[in-house]
Amino acid sequence: MKTRRFKTTDAPAVSRIMKAAFKTFLGDKWNRLDEKYFSPPMFVAQSNTRSVFSEGASYVAVDGDRIIGYVRVTASAGGLGSLEVVGVDPSAFHKGVGKTLMHASEKFWRRKKQRKVHTCVSAHNTRALTFYISNGFVPVGYRQDHFKVGVDEIILDRFL
Ligand SMILES: CC(C)(COP(=O)(O)OP(=O)(O)OC[C@H]1O[C@@H](n2cnc3c(N)ncnc32)[C@H](O)[C@@H]1OP(=O)(O)O)[C@@H](O)C(=O)NCCC(=O)NCCS
Repeated sequence: MKTRRFKTTDAPAVSRIMKAAFKTFLGDKWNRLDEKYFSPPMFVAQSNTRSVFSEGASYVAVDGDRIIGYVRVTASAGGLGSLEVVGVDPSAFHKGVGKTLMHASEKFWRRKKQRKVHTCVSAHNTRALTFYISNGFVPVGYRQDHFKVGVDEIILDRFL
């Protein structure tokens, strides 16, 4: 397994695995907006971005030719980066794919001289919460009914 930068042609496969990954914890909270947010054109539009103050990058984890994971991160001129979204093909959970994507993200943040990164995770998503804590993130806050009514978010920070 290795990681590489996301390419436009990866979008259909990335869309497929991200939908499957997020449905594992969103269950009946999955809705039409999620379907759109995780559609191939949205991955093309959001994966590699650049403005005066911030830059976004995306990586895929591949096993041979097969895409098994995706992460999107940002870096900013002020040194505060973010992990926007990460997901692994559910058939490849617990095999270190997430950790490998985290390493690729870390390399990006360090290259861009980020001092701190942040993310958030749905409070009931214990698998991902454990994953973030194992990778150095610390819970620092709580947001009730944040992205969706009935789903709270835990805010996580990590100093690099
Ligand atoms: C959260 C998520 C990205 C983690 O990905 P993953 O590939 O399963 O993560 P890893 O395999 O690197 O680590 C998960 C656990 O497996 C363990 N593990 C790693 N390699 C392993 C191996 N070869 N054999 C057994 N266990 C292993 C790790 O120690 C880790 O345990 P820990 O969290 O208790 O430390 C994945 O579960 C996912 O896509 N979830 C749905 C989407 C989601 O929740 N995204 C985050 C919200 S934005």
